[in-house]
Amino acid sequence: MSSKNHFNDAAPEWDRLRQSYFSEAVREKAIAIAQVQPGKLAADLGAGTGFITEALVRHGLRVIAVDQSEAMLSEMQKKFAGVQGIDYRLGDAEQLPIEDASVDYVFANMYLHHVDNPAKAILEMSRILKPGGKVVITDLDEHSHEFLRTEQHDRWLGFRREDIRRCFFEAGLEDIHVDSLDENCCTKSPCGCEEVAISVFVATGTKRDRKAATPYPYATYLDIKYPSLTVIDLPALIQACKDRWYNQTLCQVNDSVVRLGIVQGEYHWHKHDNDDEFFFVLEGRFIIDLETHSVELRPWQGFVVPKGVVHRTRAPERCIILMVETSTIIPTGDDNGVDV
Ligand SMILES: C[S@@+](CC[C@H](N)C(=O)[O-])C[C@H]1O[C@@H](n2cnc3c(N)ncnc32)[C@H](O)[C@@H]1O
Repeated sequence: MSSKNHFNDAAPEWDRLRQSYFSEAVREKAIAIAQVQPGKLAADLGAGTGFITEALVRHGLRVIAVDQSEAMLSEMQKKFAGVQGIDYRLGDAEQLPIEDASVDYVFANMYLHHVDNPAKAILEMSRILKPGGKVVITDLDEHSHEFLRTEQHDRWLGFRREDIRRCFFEAGLEDIHVDSLDENCCTKSPCGCEEVAISVFVATGTKRDRKAATPYPYATYLDIKYPSLTVIDLPALIQACKDRWYNQTLCQVNDSVVRLGIVQGEYHWHKHDNDDEFFFVLEGRFIIDLETHSVELRPWQGFVVPKGVVHRTRAPERCIILMVETSTIIPTGDDNGVDV
């Protein structure tokens, strides 16, 4: 049976079944984490009979409820007859019937483990979000209860949180958090003899606002300022610098160069497929954002970002650093200055 047929059959009973699987607290927590604001537009994906939609409307939001199942949407329409602000749309995870950059929030409760291609579904979520908009997914942690594939048409046995984090990152989301919701999804094994409780995670991310990033040019000077056998003397260079993001090659050492950075603000996300990069702070506070966490460096602290690792550097205040990297590296990253 297809997933669509499975949920068409389950629709009349869905509210009763759902209550046995997970509690109201799942939606209350998800909505609280998103800090939703009245008047905004949200998409509820895999809306079913409107568990999340109902709470969003109560918080004063307008909702586009999308589901693949006609029967689910029709149950929902019956239930919310006369309620304003809900737009019901039949559609699929991989091709949502919603315009680009048009919604403020995306919610998806217990939906992702049913879709064929979760990474693509997350890309679609990001596509429909306005810059600065938020996505909130509540779903199952990775588990081993195979019977859910047949009993409840689960396509995936939950997810590893690091995989969700990566999908969010690759979909152009930032400020990514994947944490426990402190709730379980409960069901019984087919024989009825085993109670199963699967922990639920909540994943949040914000659509990157590219226009807000780097409103200043990178001043990058690749000429070698100090040939061998000359004294490298930085104070005059530092004093003369008026650029917001300044990078001057100081000298060459074998196949590598040493560079001086005088920076304030943030660089774009990038990676170098073949080159490690070393950063050493002389003055100020320098932050290296990685996909999973951020590292903050103070004076006399250094860090190596290995090849292939996506990162972004930033400095909340003016900061002075040294960098060591191969002389052939493209400073803006292998995607040539475009956010990855
Ligand atoms: C487990 S139910 C959750 C329903 C609702 N979010 C809730 O919390 O009660 C999963 C829902 O996702 C929908 N769904 C599954 N795969 C889908 C897909 N590829 N595209 C759109 N909807 C899908 C199903 O039809 C079903 O209504």
